[in-house]
Amino acid sequence: GLTSRRGGDRLIAEGHVAVNGVVVRSPATLADPDTDAITVHGRPLPASEPAQYLLLNKPRGYVTTLSDPQGRPVVADLVRAGARLYPVGRLDADVEGALLLTNDGPLTHRLLHPRYALPRVYEAHVQGRVPRADLDRWRRGVLLEDGPAKPAAVEIVESGARASRLRLTFAEGRKHEVKRYCEALGHRVLRLSRIAFGPVVLGALQPGAWRRLTAREVTALRAAVAAPGAPRQ
Ligand code: URA
Repeated sequence: GLTSRRGGDRLIAEGHVAVNGVVVRSPATLADPDTDAITVHGRPLPASEPAQYLLLNKPRGYVTTLSDPQGRPVVADLVRAGARLYPVGRLDADVEGALLLTNDGPLTHRLLHPRYALPRVYEAHVQGRVPRADLDRWRRGVLLEDGPAKPAAVEIVESGARASRLRLTFAEGRKHEVKRYCEALGHRVLRLSRIAFGPVVLGALQPGAWRRLTAREVTALRAAVAAPGAPRQ
């Protein structure tokens, strides 16, 4: 809360930071803000802001950033939580649904790290009929330009002559992954919503509305990234 990461490195290198009364000059020094006395220019570090965890139903048309140089609506316009909160990953501007926001940087890092393979559940309206007989093909995976992609699960929710609704679970967060996946299987995505991010489910939250996570949800998120997942295939 005092400066940027780079600014912190500079303060340390210039000898302005002490841990338990001893000046440190390496940014690799390990210190625990709960048990070590860390001072900058001889003054204790300001208390860190309490962690906050929010779930927003991001509406279509909003960009997943805090500010947009092009002046488009941003998710920060929708959330007034009294602290600077950062989105956990991204949803495309034309995608709706579950987006976490938090000031808990270490947890964010883990939630997005591929080693934990956190499942993201999407509901995709796609062009054309997807017959049940095609499910095998949908589950097998495809090769996209940035490597193989394979959903952890695929279900058909509804299949019509002109459009179908699918529920797909991906355990990674690659750019435009769901749209590219469906397109590769010959079905353009007409509408895409994320209905769950790990253990946090969107439920009845309306587009544009947000709520704080329950203590149980925060515990479940932490548990989901507590141990490395199985090696990725
Ligand atoms: N897949 C997409 O294509 N878009 C998103 O926003 C998220 C996943």
